[in-house]
Order: sequence, then structure tokens, then C-alpha cells
Amino acid sequence: MSHHSDGIAPHGGQLINRIVTPEQKQTFLDKAELLPRVQLDERATSDLELIAIGGFSPLTGFMEQADYINVVENMRLANGLPWSIPVTLSVTEAVAEPLKEGSLVRLDNPQGQFIGVLELTQKYQYDKAHEAINVYRTDDEKHPGVKVVYNQGPVNLAGPVWLLQRQSHPLFPQYQIDPAASRAMFKEKGWKTIVGFQTRNPIHRAHEYIQKCAMETVDGLFLHPLVGATKEDDIAADVRMRCYEIILEHYYPQDRVILAINPAAMRYAGPREAIFHALLRKNYGCTHFIVGRDHAGVGDYYGTYDAQHIFDEFEPGELGITPMKFEHAFYCTRTQGMATTKTSPSSPAERIHLSGTKVREMLRRGELPPPEFSRPEVAAELARAMRVLVEA
Ligand code: ADX
Repeated sequence: MSHHSDGIAPHGGQLINRIVTPEQKQTFLDKAELLPRVQLDERATSDLELIAIGGFSPLTGFMEQADYINVVENMRLANGLPWSIPVTLSVTEAVAEPLKEGSLVRLDNPQGQFIGVLELTQKYQYDKAHEAINVYRTDDEKHPGVKVVYNQGPVNLAGPVWLLQRQSHPLFPQYQIDPAASRAMFKEKGWKTIVGFQTRNPIHRAHEYIQKCAMETVDGLFLHPLVGATKEDDIAADVRMRCYEIILEHYYPQDRVILAINPAAMRYAGPREAIFHALLRKNYGCTHFIVGRDHAGVGDYYGTYDAQHIFDEFEPGELGITPMKFEHAFYCTRTQGMATTKTSPSSPAERIHLSGTKVREMLRRGELPPPEFSRPEVAAELARAMRVLVEA
């Protein structure tokens, strides 16, 4: 594993920063009215932000065709560096047609605000079914990630980007910790080994268990919930963040955890997204990354441990971050604690585990998930959020 003076090396060796200087910003603002304009959707807005802050290092922009094809087919950038998810700006023919390669394009967020600039080096057609099958392992349009691919335009605009300004997150400014900042915090705390945790769900006891198992062997936990676009029936990010604050206050040692938001959009690409999630956390300075059951999965598109097996497709050291793999965890009534089949001889009837869907159904009926599944303080917060939703 290669190390930097500031901890683990970012992917590709250098932390990318594509946020413009004040002078550059003025130049772009002066040109704003003259530049052709492309409106980004929520996912592309997240991607622009992540490129700019170095979360997607070594990417400096939206992928050109050579990178795109090699990522889709071989999980590598054109230069051979591992990368598992296409980062593309897909637009309609009508939007792409007037844009000239070699020119600057103004990028607006979904609210129509000027937030960035693309130096258009290439526009190209791509094969959606090919992307779906390779990246998502299915071309079923009901898959929420595949659906996004099928609904987006047929032309990718590629080239380096700049973000005009780092804006604070409207809901969680205190948890917006960019890769350079998280790296500095780890250094200041003297943490040499840091485990990153990805999540898009309210925290339950299996999450807590695997995080704490990991924490027993590393210096710190980087709790990094995803707050970018998710599918409609996932629990809203603000509710999830409150659950994290509550559980940290009552059940975690304050000085061993850093809570921060991951601005990425969810792809639900299972195994491929697990690699992507790991590389992202490497850029934030994590040395280890937790991969549990059906990581980043949805429905039954992926095998329970496919997202763990995919790490074996890379040579040791190539990814530069170490996966910490965990079996399906549950509350075990025989041993009276959280466990997995690796640590408990229980029969299936002695195991308490609820799916996210089941928990959402319980909450809708006004029932609280049991303490074996959820810490009571977290359950109460979920129930409160559900009441607000029902009354609204
Ligand atoms: S994800 O889409 O972000 O992966 P989720 O928030 O549910 O979904 O999971 C966060 C992490 O916890 C993932 O690594 C996932 O594999 C793991 N995980 C979730 N539930 C369990 C469980 N019961 N046992 C083991 N690992 C789990």
C-alpha cells in the first residue's frame, strides 16, 4: 500500500482539485452569457462536485470514449488504473448538436444556477444496453440504476471540468468534509488506519455491529452516508443523518468516529459500485472499507456476497484500499447479541433480521422496529419522521 506524507495516496497518486481560483472564476463569470449552456441533472451535479473536490481522483472531468469503454468492459481507465463506474454527462442529440468540440460549455445545476464549466474535448454515442449489462449485470429497465441510463440522452459530453465555487451543503454544512479536509483530520488525530463506511439506509444494529467489529482493529471510523440522489422509496437523507447523530451520541465513543456526508448519487450497481465506493473512500483518506451483505444492491439482482468477490478480480495493492468483508449480521437469541454464522451456532429461527422494506412497512403501520433490530432512540426518530410524512 503506497503512503503519502498525508496518509494513504489518493487513487492515481494525486488529489485532484478542480475548484477555480477567484481570478478564473471572474473570467468564467464574464463569459457566462456567451457560453452555450447545458443543464445538469442531480446525478451529474453530484459528479461535478465529486470531481472538483477530488473524491473521484484521478478524474478531472467527464469521461472520454477511451476511458468510458475500458471502464464499461474492463473496469479500468484507458491507462489501466482500476475504475468501475462510468462518470459521464449524457445529453440529448438536440443539446449536443450545436456544441463544438474544443469549446467551453457552461454547466447549470437543476435549479438553473451557473455552477461549472466543461471544456468539451469530445462528444460520442454510446451503447446503453452494453453499459447496463456490463456495469449493472442486467438490462432490466426496472433496475433503478439501469432506468437512469435508459432515460438519459444518447450522447456523452466529455472533457475536463471546473467548479465555480464550493458551496456548503444546504442541509448538512457541518458534515461537509471534503477529501483534503478528512485527510487533514485523520492526520491531526494521529489515525494511521481508518475504515470507511458507506450507507444509504437508516442505521440499524447490524450496521453498528460490523462498524464496531472493524473499529476493534483500526484507529478510526469514517462514517460516510451517501446524501446524493437515491431511489424514491429510500429513507430521506435528513432523517438518516438525524439517526446517525442520535446513535453516535448514545452508543459510540465520540473521539473514534468522524461523521461526514458523501455527496454521490446512488447507482445501485452492487459489486461494481462497491469498488467505486471503496476508491472514493480511498480518496477521502481511508485505508480500509467495509463491504457487508449485498453492498449497494437492490432487489435480487446480485448475489449476497458478489460485492465482496469482485475485489478478488484485482491484484493485491492495485486498489490501494483494503476491503473488510462481513457476513450477514443479525441479532442472535441464543447467544443474546449480534452475530453472524461465523460466530454463532444458531439455527435460522434464532436469528432476528428485518429487511429495509419490512421496517418501512412497520413504520407505516405505526409500529416500532424491535430493539434487537434498531436502537430504541433511532426507532423513535424513524417513527417521528414517518408521522410527519403521513400528516403532511
Ligand atoms: S448500501 O446500498 O449503502 O450498501 P446499506 O446502507 O444498507 O446499503 O448498507 C451499508 C453497508 O452495510 C454495506 O456495506 C452493506 O453490505 C452492509 N450491511 C447492511 N446490512 C447488513 C447486514 N445485516 N449484515 C452485514 N452487512 C450489512
